[in-house]
Amino acid sequence: QANERESMFVVSEFAQENFEHNLWETGAGKAIGLSYFKERGFLDSTIRKFKLGYSLDEWDAFTKTALDKGYQLEFLEKTGLTIVKEEGKHFDRFKGRVMFPIHSMSGRVLGFGGRILDTQKKAAKYLNSPESDIYHKSKVLYGIYHAKQAIAKEDSCYLVEGYTDVIQFHQNGIENVVASSGTALTPEQIRLVNRLTKNITVLFDGDAAGLRASLRGVDLILEQGMNVRVCTFPEGDDPDSFARKNSYDDIKAYLAENAQDFIQFKASLLVKEAKNDPIKKADTIRDIVGSIAKIPDRIQQEVYLQECSRIMDISEDVLFNTLAQLHNKEV
Ligand code: CTP
Ligand code: MN
Ligand code: MN
Ligand code: MN
Ligand code: MN
Repeated sequence: QANERESMFVVSEFAQENFEHNLWETGAGKAIGLSYFKERGFLDSTIRKFKLGYSLDEWDAFTKTALDKGYQLEFLEKTGLTIVKEEGKHFDRFKGRVMFPIHSMSGRVLGFGGRILDTQKKAAKYLNSPESDIYHKSKVLYGIYHAKQAIAKEDSCYLVEGYTDVIQFHQNGIENVVASSGTALTPEQIRLVNRLTKNITVLFDGDAAGLRASLRGVDLILEQGMNVRVCTFPEGDDPDSFARKNSYDDIKAYLAENAQDFIQFKASLLVKEAKNDPIKKADTIRDIVGSIAKIPDRIQQEVYLQECSRIMDISEDVLFNTLAQLHNKEV
């Protein structure tokens, strides 16, 4: 219902202001939250731009303030800002965390990511708002509001994993960047970018662990007829840490040198993995052809088959027949 959703937005926007107020105006916020952001190299202007905040480390500080101001418990609960245990017992979802508001394409507050400070080791690193009537995780990309103009202007978009990657890139002058926020990429998320540009470059964290799983998501980008490039970062780096150590020119140069066409990248990776194991090699053929099959343009498919034949040292016929088999299965 439209009115309910509006009330949820309003309460979320109050929360954003309250967390910002805590960060800049309270002793704990300044000592803990603001100094955390500064240690990460965020400038005041950056912290303000992304409306970052701090949630006080108390059971119900936020909920109390909101109720005092006349916001209704119903909408505090529906947005997940407040957790209601039983009649009359409620507490804050976010406690003692630095807060990243998540904005829609038009700049409304949909939810939050809250990061624990490095001194607290027990909890999950990021706690996020739950799925709700205003926050559909599968349809949101972090940073899209702040990136949309630059994406259209540059006619390209960088896709990164996390909140801090987006923010650090902005601070370094690269504004056409959005984050999937750690979840598997969805067609709806890609469509948000697809409306603005056909060119996407996926930037992977240098931890390699998530790389294989992430490659699956990239097939969804191919499926929408977009041009996909990928770039990895040095071991131990993610776009945030890399951008902290390097200037705008260095980052641009690194990306220009290391971003590769996705299919070529995947083919090279598969060759290394399969080495001379024939069974693995057969799997890799199915895998790469599976990706190529997602490309809507048949001529592009043909070009990629030739490329992969060369990179993987497999005859074009074998690749072509595998593709034909896949097409037959579809029918
Ligand atoms: N994420 C999450 N919950 C976690 C871990 C990660 O929601 N427990 C999401 C966050 O959106 C995070 C993104 O996945 O930004 C990428 O995860 P990771 O690379 O681990 O975090 P960073 O953004 O690099 O966080 P930081 O630099 O603050 O450690
Ligand atoms: Mn809805
Ligand atoms: Mn990661
Ligand atoms: Mn990361
Ligand atoms: Mn990081």
